[in-house]
Amino acid sequence: MKLPQALPRGLLLIGLGLGPMLAFAGVPEKAPNAGAPYSAKGADTCLSCHDDPEVVDVFHTAHAQPNDARTPFGKGGLQCEACHGPGGNHAKRVKKGESRPSMIKFGRTAATPVGVQNAMCLGCHEQTAVANWHMGPHDVNNVSCAACHDSHKAKDAVLARATQPDVCYTCHVAERSQFQKVYAHPVRQGKLACSDCHAPHGTVAQKQLVRATVNDTCYECHAEKRGPLLWEHQPVTEDCSTCHAPHGSSNPGMVKQRGPLLCQSCHSQQGHPSFGYGPSGLPGNAAPATALALGNCMNCHSQVHGSNHPSGSSLTR
Ligand code: HEC
Ligand code: HEC
Ligand code: HEC
Ligand code: HEC
Ligand code: HEC
Ligand code: HEC
Ligand code: HEC
Ligand code: HEC
Ligand code: HEC
Ligand code: HEC
Repeated sequence: MKLPQALPRGLLLIGLGLGPMLAFAGVPEKAPNAGAPYSAKGADTCLSCHDDPEVVDVFHTAHAQPNDARTPFGKGGLQCEACHGPGGNHAKRVKKGESRPSMIKFGRTAATPVGVQNAMCLGCHEQTAVANWHMGPHDVNNVSCAACHDSHKAKDAVLARATQPDVCYTCHVAERSQFQKVYAHPVRQGKLACSDCHAPHGTVAQKQLVRATVNDTCYECHAEKRGPLLWEHQPVTEDCSTCHAPHGSSNPGMVKQRGPLLCQSCHSQQGHPSFGYGPSGLPGNAAPATALALGNCMNCHSQVHGSNHPSGSSLTR
């Protein structure tokens, strides 16, 4: 394995404005090691004790790019301490009976306050990747970057379609069972990820969708459902999720309710367009006999998403 050359702590570089952004953002006051000095030899200092593979794997990540000065391990970077804070005291020999001064520790259950953890990452990322962080429910609910990101792994599970959902399911348990249903978006098959529809870092859109509305999100992939059409069906242009369960459902086509019931939740019970589903629901002679046999409004009103046919006003063609 190629370890980057450990550079002396870059006081001079930082002074010249060449240090990483973190140097300017600073270590938050509530950090366990705030105010401590940086270690003498950067990563080399740390590796003398922390040489287990899980830790060393950090050199296989996007953060370890010696030629990219913006990364922790780039020229002049603070290396391990860019994320964990200054380790000058922590790395010293500890006298018997005393405990080792703490570093910033990451993760959902870590002792370091989430605000402090995230500030270390945001110091470099707030201007770009996570620009809307403070608008989202994850920030508001104290979710740490490290609850989703595994910074020491060459393959950060949350960044890949096939492995991302399991990261989300650690907290969003109900969604797992939604995607297990027979008719579901192919997330289980790895064809779609949560982040195809949701912006995990926050947005102003409802339910953290990637587009401003549910429909705009759906049109990203189902462009053929976008109007304008000659004959539109009002609920379709308003909100696809009126009829569809966007994650999955036990009904064909991922609809929330089966055939007639779905339609009858809006269309009245009186006369056709208003016969019930079943003999007792049939009002007089209004419904064609075939309707019952066919059972489903869609057998005639096949163009439920709207029609471009000149005589498609009843969405039958
Ligand atoms: C002399 C050995 C030694 C050196 C050098 C050292 N550590 Fe540690 N580190 C430890 C020990 C031992 C623990 C476990 C402390 C405990 O469980 O109380 C630890 C724990 C940690 C933790 C977990 C958080 C915590 O405070 O318990 C982090 C993160 C960490 N070290 C990072 C670093 C970094 C970064 C460096 C380099 C700046 C470094 N360490 C240098 C021995 C060392
Ligand atoms: C010293 C600055 C700095 C710090 C601190 C930092 N990052 Fe980064 N990070 C970068 C740079 C630079 C890149 C590479 C960006 C690029 O290639 O466009 C990057 C890349 C990433 C990526 C993309 C990885 C990939 O494989 O594409 C993720 C995810 C990430 N950082 C998360 C974090 C998290 C979480 C933290 C805090 C634990 C953190 N970063 C701390 C600078 C930093
Ligand atoms: C809820 C889970 C989650 C949390 C919390 C989270 N991220 Fe991410 N992050 C993701 C996902 C998913 C992606 C991949 C995005 C995509 O594919 O569009 C990502 C991508 C990134 C990237 C790479 C962006 C790029 O364009 O390559 C960076 C950098 C990053 N995250 C930093 C952070 C930082 C910093 C924090 C904390 C402030 C954070 N993330 C918190 C899930 C999360
Ligand atoms: C980009 C930010 C970043 C850099 C750089 C980084 N770490 Fe970490 N480190 C983390 C995060 C986040 C975790 C929590 C576990 C995870 O996500 O993999 C962690 C976990 C650890 C742990 C386990 C602590 C515990 O919770 O028990 C140790 C030890 C550690 N890092 C040491 C180091 C050392 C040594 C280096 C330098 C060689 C380093 N880290 C570089 C972000 C970073
Ligand atoms: C550490 C726990 C945790 C992880 C991991 C996590 N979330 Fe969340 N998420 C929350 C919390 C807490 C909320 C806010 C409360 C709620 O709405 O359930 C939330 C809210 C959301 C919302 C908004 C819900 C709304 O009603 O507006 C979406 C969408 C979301 N998360 C998607 C994701 C995705 C996608 C991932 C994986 C990339 C993910 N989450 C990973 C904890 C987590
Ligand atoms: C095809 C697009 C799509 C995909 C893929 C998707 N979602 Fe959603 N999700 C939505 C829509 C649309 C809503 C809003 C539903 C509504 O308002 O009724 C939503 C709502 C949510 C909510 C809020 C639920 C609530 O009760 O308020 C959470 C949490 C969530 N999704 C998590 C996830 C997770 C985790 C994944 C991946 C495992 C995921 N979503 C994948 C489209 C999607
Ligand atoms: C990132 C792309 C993407 C987005 C965004 C998306 N879908 Fe899909 N959708 C798919 C894929 C892929 C399939 C599976 C197609 C297949 O199996 O042929 C699918 C299938 C469907 C199906 C058919 C299921 C079946 O059993 O035939 C419905 C209904 C559907 N999506 C509705 C929606 C709705 C509503 C939204 C918005 C909340 C949405 N989709 C957003 C990609 C997407
Ligand atoms: C009024 C209820 C309703 C609304 C609103 C609705 N759909 Fe549908 N959709 C259906 C029904 C019913 C089916 C057929 C289900 C079946 O296979 O039995 C269907 C099927 C689908 C299918 C799979 C078959 C096909 O036609 O491609 C997709 C994809 C789809 N809808 C996407 C959308 C999108 C995107 C929106 C929003 C623009 C939307 N739907 C709004 C009722 C609706
Ligand atoms: C969320 C409520 C809602 C649901 C569910 C719904 N519709 Fe509609 N539908 C409407 C509204 C509103 C109109 C427009 C009525 C108007 O313009 O007078 C409409 C119009 C129609 C029309 C055209 C009638 C006309 O006069 O233009 C037909 C046909 C129709 N719907 C069939 C269906 C079928 C079949 C289903 C089930 C797949 C269904 N609808 C589900 C609300 C709904
Ligand atoms: C056997 C075929 C058939 C079935 C099944 C059927 N319809 Fe119709 N429906 C029609 C025809 C044909 C029209 C057009 C009547 C007209 O224009 O006078 C129509 C008209 C409508 C209209 C528009 C009425 C108006 O005022 O213009 C609505 C709404 C409607 N149907 C809803 C439903 C619903 C809801 C169901 C299921 C419970 C259903 N239909 C089942 C054939 C059918």
